[in-house]
Amino acid sequence: TGMFTYDPGFMSTAACNSAITYIDGDKGELLYRGYPIEQLAAKGDFLESCYLLLNGELPNTAQKEEFVYMVSRHTMVHEQMQFFFRGFRRDAHPMSVLVGTVGALASFYHDSLDINNPRHREVSAIRLIAKMPTLVAMAYKYSIGQPFVYPKNELSFSANFMHMMFSTPCEEYKINDVLVRALDRILILHADHEQNASTSTVRLAGSSGANPFACIAAGIACLWGPAHGGANEAALSMLEQIGSVDNIPEFIRQVKDKNSSVKLMGFGHRVYKNYDPRAKLMRETCYEVLAELGLENDPLFKLAMALEKIALEDEYFVSRKLYPNVDFYSGIVQRALGIPTALFTGIFAMARTIGWVAQWKEMISDPEQKIGRPRQLFVGETTRTVKPIAER
Ligand code: CMC
Repeated sequence: TGMFTYDPGFMSTAACNSAITYIDGDKGELLYRGYPIEQLAAKGDFLESCYLLLNGELPNTAQKEEFVYMVSRHTMVHEQMQFFFRGFRRDAHPMSVLVGTVGALASFYHDSLDINNPRHREVSAIRLIAKMPTLVAMAYKYSIGQPFVYPKNELSFSANFMHMMFSTPCEEYKINDVLVRALDRILILHADHEQNASTSTVRLAGSSGANPFACIAAGIACLWGPAHGGANEAALSMLEQIGSVDNIPEFIRQVKDKNSSVKLMGFGHRVYKNYDPRAKLMRETCYEVLAELGLENDPLFKLAMALEKIALEDEYFVSRKLYPNVDFYSGIVQRALGIPTALFTGIFAMARTIGWVAQWKEMISDPEQKIGRPRQLFVGETTRTVKPIAER
């Protein structure tokens, strides 16, 4: 069986050519189409990063205006969609609601099935980017028993999401620019990360010619797993469990104990063996948001900074090149924005949708694209004869 290379976890297999996202794990560098993530987060908004990931270049003023117009025109979901939501239990996990409702979109847009038509591909891409915030906010509203809030197209992408999340028919949510900017940053930082598990899932699903709504639903399913999208939630609950700065040394002792399985959540990364560039930006954003809300003394933020400092000086973490990743601070920011923990992975899905869509589109347009079909090393029984049931 020496014909195939055994590579569980795809540690050394490149499954595609891609010109979208570049990561240098040793340097701690993340580029979207060649642009450093720091510059994109400082100088542009989420929809600019979306345009860039999708089309390869940053938009000029006219292109940006048209893109914003296109996305805002598609923010509403078909009125029938609310019946899908109402079929779920109130306590359903938002990710199960998203897997179902995003997959269901295909049944409303039959043109999405024709993936060979570039115009249809384009409009499916726009629909996905535009409708994800609406679906995530609907999942939240349904879970707390409040009426769904329709999108408001005069608002920016992130402001509109906050509006759909927090406005009620009795009271309009007051848009706060610092908080909107923080959400926008979270979205930019999570927009794409080359061939991670959920993106690879989207590509594999799409390689059979499946429609983009079905492929993105598959990506959402993969992201749901705790080893992928669930780390920010885990990092936040770890901080809550540690409780105070005094308990850090004991916690670090447990992490280092060979016989314990305790991990420092939000630390370490398969690719980054240096400070995750997204973590730096997230820490800055965290500080800005807490200052805006008058929460500079937030005990969890203080605890996180103290924990980071102690870990970065500890030989265990230094020798293993373990640094904070994006999720170390993103949970604190989301909590401060009023986003419930159960929705964190849904926000991640909303951000990553553009990455999934851009990668799907790149794959579909690649002349070398083939159906994804891994091989196996067979380790089971070889040919045997079926005996009559009485003789087994
Ligand atoms: N805390 C304590 N020890 C750790 C940690 C951690 N967070 N991460 C790795 N190690 C140790 C690990 O025990 C091993 O030690 P030893 O050599 O003594 O056995 C060594 O570091 C190498 O770790 P590994 O498990 O081989 O590394 P990996 O590349 O397979 O795992 C990881 C990467 C992200 C799964 C892991 O670092 C981890 O579980 N981190 C905590 C969870 C987390 O924060 N995940 C979010 C990732 S970023 C979000 C995204 O981009 O999707």
